[in-house]
Amino acid sequence: MPPVLSSTAQTLSQTPYDINVRADLKWDFSKVGKQFVDGDPLISCLWAAFSIGAPVIERFFIKALKPTVDTIVGDEKLIDDVRCMIAQEVHHSAAHIVFNKHLESLGFDVKAVTKQMEATVQVMTRDMTPIDMLGIVAAGEHALYSFAQVFIRSNQVRKTMHPQVERLFLYHMLEEAEHGAVSHDQYRYFAGNDYFHRLRTASRARHLFSLLTDAVSTLSGQLDVEITAKNWIALHRYLWGNPGLFRLMIGNLAGYLAPWYQLTFTHEDEADIKRWNDELYAGQP
Ligand SMILES: [Fe+2]
Ligand SMILES: [Fe+2]
Repeated sequence: MPPVLSSTAQTLSQTPYDINVRADLKWDFSKVGKQFVDGDPLISCLWAAFSIGAPVIERFFIKALKPTVDTIVGDEKLIDDVRCMIAQEVHHSAAHIVFNKHLESLGFDVKAVTKQMEATVQVMTRDMTPIDMLGIVAAGEHALYSFAQVFIRSNQVRKTMHPQVERLFLYHMLEEAEHGAVSHDQYRYFAGNDYFHRLRTASRARHLFSLLTDAVSTLSGQLDVEITAKNWIALHRYLWGNPGLFRLMIGNLAGYLAPWYQLTFTHEDEADIKRWNDELYAGQP
C-alpha cells in the first residue's frame, strides 16, 4: 500500500537536486588494447566483465522500474527522479555497448558472456513479484552506489586504466552516485519500510557478484596469454587487499542491511558530483 505523504513531507525522494541526464558524451576506444588495465590480462577481464554486464543488468533494472513508475501518485519529485534515472541507465547501456563492440573486435566473446549473465539474472528473479523486483533493484543499485564511491575516489584504480576506459567508468559511476537513492525511494513508496522484505530481496541481489566472477572466469579462457596462479593471486589482491575494490565497499554495503538505512546527500556530495562532472567533460575527445 503506497504511503500517504504528510503535508510537511512533499516527497519520498532523498535526492536534493535534479538528476542530470548526460546525452552529449563522445567515446573513442580505438586505441584500447586487450590488456587495458596496467598491462594485466586478468584485471582487464574484470573490467571487461563489468562493461559486458552493464547492459544486461540495466535492461533488468529498467524492466523492473518502468511498470510501476506510472502508478506513483502525488509525488512529482520521485516520478522525475525515476524517469531521469531510467534515462541515465539507457545512456549507460549505449555507452557500454560501444565499448563492448570494441571488446568483441579484440577477441572477447561478448555474446557468450552476455548469454551467461542473462541466465544468472533469470535465476535471481525467479518467482519474484514486481515489488520483490523493486527490492532487488534497490539492493543492486545500492551495491553500484557503493562501488561508485570506491572507484571514483581511488586514484590508484583509475590511474592504471586506459584513459578512455577510465572515463567510461567515471561517467557511469558518477551517475550511479547521483541516482544512488532513487530506486530505494521507489521501493519504499511501494513496499514501505518492510525490513524483512528488504533483507530477503537484498539476499537475492548477491547473484550480481557471481554474475561478475563467472564472467571473469569465462573471459580469462578467451585470452591469447596463459593465465597463471600468479595472475589469480594478483586479481584477489586487487579486489580484497590493495587497492581492495570489494574490501572498500564492505562498510557501505553493510549499511544497507541496517534497519535504519537511508541515503542522505550533503553539500560536499553535491560539490564532489560537480567536480567529477568537470573531469568527465575535460576528457571529451
Ligand atoms: Fe547504470
Ligand atoms: Fe543505476
